[in-house]
Amino acid sequence: MSFNNLDQLYRSVIMDHYKNPRNKGVIEDGALTIDMNNPTCGDRIRLTLDIQDDVVRDAKFDGEGCSISMSSASMMTEAIKGKTIAEALKMSDEFSKMMLGEDYEIDEDAGDIEALSGVAKFPARIKCATLAWKALERGTKEEN
Ligand code: FES
Repeated sequence: MSFNNLDQLYRSVIMDHYKNPRNKGVIEDGALTIDMNNPTCGDRIRLTLDIQDDVVRDAKFDGEGCSISMSSASMMTEAIKGKTIAEALKMSDEFSKMMLGEDYEIDEDAGDIEALSGVAKFPARIKCATLAWKALERGTKEEN
């Protein structure tokens, strides 16, 4: 696949997550709740996680934001479900490396998160793409 076609494909994956967000909503019943915002634009996300025995059983997000932040949250909640906290945090590290344009390793079971790799070329949007991951990090690091 040529670079341009891949770019197009990633673009349509991003828009699909934005228009049809996966795991949108809030988990009730004592789920771990993390509120995070991007101070530069005011966009915000609420991430709720159901963690049992160190495994992310369920993940949902709610909030308002640009297409990058919301699609990233949608992709992330899909990717981390069923993962241990350590696996989810490792994925977050690899995602950060991808944003910085460094070498990264993302497994196939991480769903669509690689579709955001192009954001590395737009430094001003990196905070959009990492908003949900920062919420995950904050919540799970407090948890441990
Ligand atoms: Fe606010 Fe993207 S412009 S998170």
